[in-house]
Amino acid sequence: MDASEDFSVNPTAGRPGAKTINDLIEARLSRRGFLSGLAASSALAATGCATSGEIVDIAEPGVEPDPSFTFAEITRGIDGTHHVPEGYRADMLIRWGDPLFSDSPAFDPTAQSAAAQNRQFGYNNDYIGFVELPTRPNEDPRALLCVNHEYTSTRLMLPGLESRRELTRAECEIEMAGHGGSIIEIVKRNGRWEVDSESKYTRRITTSDTIMALSGPAAGHDRLKTMTDPSGSRVIGTMNNCAGGITPWGTYLMAEENINGNFGGELEANHPETEAYARYGIPGGWYQWSRHFARFDVGREPNEPNRFGWVVEVDPMDPTSTPVKRTALGRFKHEGAESVIAPDGRLVIYMGDDQRFDYLYKFVSRDAVDLQDRSANADLLDHGTLFVARFDDDGGVDWLALTHGEGPLTAENGFENQGDVLISTRLAADLLGATPMDRPEDVEPDAATGRVYVMLTNNTRRTEDQLNVANPRADNRDGHVIELEEPDGDFTATRSRWEFLVKCGDPADAVSGATWNAATTSEGWFGSPDNCAIDPSGRLWISTDGNEKTGANDGVWAMETDGPLRGTGKAFFRAPVGAEVCGPKFSPDGSTLFVAVQHPGDGDGATYENPSTRWPDFGPADPPRPAILAIVKEDGGPIGA
Ligand code: FEO
Ligand code: CA
Ligand code: CA
Ligand code: CA
Repeated sequence: MDASEDFSVNPTAGRPGAKTINDLIEARLSRRGFLSGLAASSALAATGCATSGEIVDIAEPGVEPDPSFTFAEITRGIDGTHHVPEGYRADMLIRWGDPLFSDSPAFDPTAQSAAAQNRQFGYNNDYIGFVELPTRPNEDPRALLCVNHEYTSTRLMLPGLESRRELTRAECEIEMAGHGGSIIEIVKRNGRWEVDSESKYTRRITTSDTIMALSGPAAGHDRLKTMTDPSGSRVIGTMNNCAGGITPWGTYLMAEENINGNFGGELEANHPETEAYARYGIPGGWYQWSRHFARFDVGREPNEPNRFGWVVEVDPMDPTSTPVKRTALGRFKHEGAESVIAPDGRLVIYMGDDQRFDYLYKFVSRDAVDLQDRSANADLLDHGTLFVARFDDDGGVDWLALTHGEGPLTAENGFENQGDVLISTRLAADLLGATPMDRPEDVEPDAATGRVYVMLTNNTRRTEDQLNVANPRADNRDGHVIELEEPDGDFTATRSRWEFLVKCGDPADAVSGATWNAATTSEGWFGSPDNCAIDPSGRLWISTDGNEKTGANDGVWAMETDGPLRGTGKAFFRAPVGAEVCGPKFSPDGSTLFVAVQHPGDGDGATYENPSTRWPDFGPADPPRPAILAIVKEDGGPIGA
């Protein structure tokens, strides 16, 4: 197929002002200096090779590129267990229901209770934070793992729901106890990580039991006041804790994502929250908590949803500390909160709002981080500026400040103060003209390069008339990865550069529009990039949520980001059927990759009694259990090398 035919499938073609794929590739090539020694025309001709999925092949003829990853790639496929490359081992670290404290009850899935779940590892592990603990010479390495529990897969988690639909109050309480987070101490003995059940740091954080403070510009706002909290500053619990972050001073950030689904009932007619709740999908009515608990019924406690959808900061070193919901970081379906220190010492946190057509954000702190005095950062996340991204056709990104009184963010438009801007972040970002994205998930800054990787999972609802330069595919089944470049590594910049790293999907599928380096094997491409990690060598790894529709389980892929192999994927880990892969987190020495296997056994019609796999225990009556694996190389060396 020749290049002109190839480019004719470019979905941006024909729109006024839209760049063609040629323009974008040319811009990328010239920005990266890839054209040295290679004529532009031949480079662009090469992009049309093989299939209509514009495979980017910019290797110099006769030069054997040097791959960053040397593990033996695993194969694609769908089955009920997990897979790692030859020479690697995946050790089970902890599963849903495993006892956390010395007095925790043993896991008994047929006799679950909220009291037991409160003392056990929660459901659907997602974010994994790693906080290294100091040790003496010759002591085994120790760390705290801070793990989010995003949601409950009710019909997989609880027995007996094949024959009834309504949950009891006690079952809803089990679900609430299954949400939140777990802080566990782990120790590496003889090359194998294990949980220290005697640790003084062990903590469960849940929807039902953990008292939290609200702080920052929206704390105490009238829209945060409820019958049980007239101060608008204290909340019971957190929920839907998806990805997150660890700050440079070692606190744990939990992002509250799909909070709308846990609210039910009906807002009274003409309630002032009507417009905002519609924009946030509240009440979602996905779960039944509102049948048993007034605070989840928007007809009875209309402001309660405004108290969720924040980023929560937790000090894992003090299990008695009160977690704090930091309102300065805005309120939306927070996917994650990975941070980096800018050259001037301020903290920058990148955040996605994981919904089709929602936005990419960054928060820039007002004050510099103090790495010498941890307590000096106690209120750092209460002061700063929240920005939302607008992608331009010329390869730039403008970061638009969500500041009350600036531009349209005024009382005339319904924003009386900064609290309103933050509580209704999405409405404010709509007014600023932010770029609607294809489900922005994990966003990972790389301090060493000034680059930021943005996972856009997919968006099958985008139509031809809704295309934009950063989201150029209609019916985007497979998602894409965008790379931002902050100028001179200044993460506080209000103008960045951007380009595609890959457009995901099957490069051999004539209509997928996928773009991969031609060195990518038939195992190395994937769809639905979701979470990512940068390893200690600066290499990018991507995990997926939704790859099964391409014919292979979700997993983890290594991704080349530089040189002639840029845009090459390589399959490293495959999860059991039904599961997405969250986490991924490297130990600081690069010798362990922790992955969170979330909702294994899920699928159409899957239940506790009839899951799609009984991973990881496989007994004939065992339910599937979300779990964390510690992947190591048999020889103890760095992962991927
Ligand atoms: Fe919790 Fe956006 O995945
Ligand atoms: Ca996710
Ligand atoms: Ca990440
Ligand atoms: Ca997801």
